[in-house]
Amino acid sequence: MIKLMNKKIIIANWKMNPNSLKLAEKLFTDIAKNISDAKSEIVICPPFLYLSKFKKMSHKIKLGAQNCSYEESGAFTGEISAEMLYDIGARYVILGHSERRSFGETNEDINKKIKTALSSGLIPILCIGEKERNENHEYFNIVKIQILECLNGVKKDFISKIIIAYEPIWSISTTPGRRDANGDDFYEMNVFIRKILSDKFGVKNKMPKIIYGGSVNPKNADEFLKEKNSDGVLVGNASLSSEKFLKIINITEGIS
Ligand code: 13P
Repeated sequence: MIKLMNKKIIIANWKMNPNSLKLAEKLFTDIAKNISDAKSEIVICPPFLYLSKFKKMSHKIKLGAQNCSYEESGAFTGEISAEMLYDIGARYVILGHSERRSFGETNEDINKKIKTALSSGLIPILCIGEKERNENHEYFNIVKIQILECLNGVKKDFISKIIIAYEPIWSISTTPGRRDANGDDFYEMNVFIRKILSDKFGVKNKMPKIIYGGSVNPKNADEFLKEKNSDGVLVGNASLSSEKFLKIINITEGIS
């Protein structure tokens, strides 16, 4: 497993885009050729199909997948294993994204995927976040349950290797009627996540990276990056524009 450096991380989740290898290569190259001096960790998570193509295209950009099976191998039609992903050059894997949870993925499934990913050498990027907020503050409990169930039985030493992405669904660019989150929303949840991890796993000095995702763009990125405990951002829509993604990288470089 690669060592997580003590620097900010910017992760692009391309989701199911772009629609052709040609466009994907262009997007990747436009980013790669402009980041030779970057000190931040830059990760691109394209659709599975493009991973092997990108493997040798940049030393600067690390590759991640957007999902993996919790099974190691066997008769699981349509699935892709963590070991296959590692072999093809991926070093990260997004797990528990709200778009996958909406297909029925449970905390228990995600928990199994995290364990399989870790044992294959991949760094899991665990996505958590509530659908909506109300004045009863139930969202704290939802996030707490997600963390405890998704990380159930994960050994303490592995906790610091995981990246936790707080992605409130109500702020994601494609959520109907979405609202903007702000730095305070992230800060408050970041403190809460740290407390849960510290109480449950006793990882006070070996915290995982905690990052924010949800409509991050060049206009608001600094708000989420400059928070005291912010370790980076997970970018969806804006990562499909090399210009916007490079601007976010530049903002991160200015803050790191
Ligand atoms: P957007 O940046 O498009 O809101 O997507 C966020 C996300 O889901 C990243 O995983």
